[in-house]
Amino acid sequence: MKLKNDKQFKKELADLYQNYVGRPSVLYFAKKLTKKYGGAKIYLKREDLNHTGAHKINNTVGQALLAQKMGKKRLIAETGAGQHGVAVATVAALFDMSCDIYMGNRDIVNQKMNVYRMKMLGANVIPVTQGQGTLKDAVDVALGAFINDPEAFYLIGSVVGPHPLPMIVRDFQKIIGKETRKQILKVESKLPNYLVACVGGGSNAMGLFYDFIDESEVKLVAVEPAGEGANTTKHGLALKKGRPGVIHGFKCNLLQDKDGNILESYSAASGLDYPGVGPELSSLKELGKLRVVGATDKEAVAAMIELSKEEGIIPALESAHALAYATKLAAKLPNEEIIIVNLSGRGDKDVENVYENLINN
Ligand SMILES: Cc1ncc(COP(=O)(O)O)c(C=O)c1O
Repeated sequence: MKLKNDKQFKKELADLYQNYVGRPSVLYFAKKLTKKYGGAKIYLKREDLNHTGAHKINNTVGQALLAQKMGKKRLIAETGAGQHGVAVATVAALFDMSCDIYMGNRDIVNQKMNVYRMKMLGANVIPVTQGQGTLKDAVDVALGAFINDPEAFYLIGSVVGPHPLPMIVRDFQKIIGKETRKQILKVESKLPNYLVACVGGGSNAMGLFYDFIDESEVKLVAVEPAGEGANTTKHGLALKKGRPGVIHGFKCNLLQDKDGNILESYSAASGLDYPGVGPELSSLKELGKLRVVGATDKEAVAAMIELSKEEGIIPALESAHALAYATKLAAKLPNEEIIIVNLSGRGDKDVENVYENLINN
């Protein structure tokens, strides 16, 4: 809290954003996609162009700087899709810290390339075999490891966990929305009508939305993973279908049975496969400030392929959920309206899984 408004800290963070992460990230007008759907203009906030290929690095450079100021030498983290793990391993190398990254064994198989990247960066990748071997289980074990080693710094990857972690992560991600505001005002001289982001824990969504929460004309749209369908048991629709509950030290909309046992979540996109969601997003929903929708695995894969073929940009499967909804929405809106989609990451990590498991060649 002391460092939040510290001039020197802010200066060092700004330098890392600019010279290490490569910010500001581009706001790209997707002309061909817009033409194809014939409605609202579709812009993409290109977080995929950041160093390491996703928005996750915005948070890890900030938290690593915080860890350094606290005199910490060891980082502990969890990862789902491996993007956060790669971003942690990267800052551990940069800041000369050791690092243990917990990852579910199912995710290790689906996100092999990111496992190799973490190892190359010098991180210790620890497989988590309990539960389903996905993100929730990785958080369970990583939190346990942190409790046994309080001298380490727990570098959480989304706007989740006990207070003040969701606020810390949001504050390091809000650069996305700040830049977006400036960029859209420059090219369109008005604010967007819609901001659309996929939601796992919710960090890329909160990062994009935060600067616009009080703008009543800007609609905030959270796209959750509908997996194999909202009417099946295989989805991760925490905001849409969850009830208030507690997970990993915070209260949120949570997928649970009638007795309060946490239900398994599911998404083909490892980074969205989590039964809860950030508490601030839950609160925005309750306040009526958030539209909550879903996109299925199939819709996301189709959107991933479509953006690749139309615009020459391969998005992460997570980000493709936001795209899948945004294109449907664009088709229904007049030409003068503007939709900005958070392209939270690039899709290299997903290409093999898509061709091997998710589509018929
Ligand atoms: C590219 C990408 N987008 C989105 C997410 C979801 O995380 P969050 O909801 O915290 O943005 C992940 C998580 O791993 C990711 O890798």
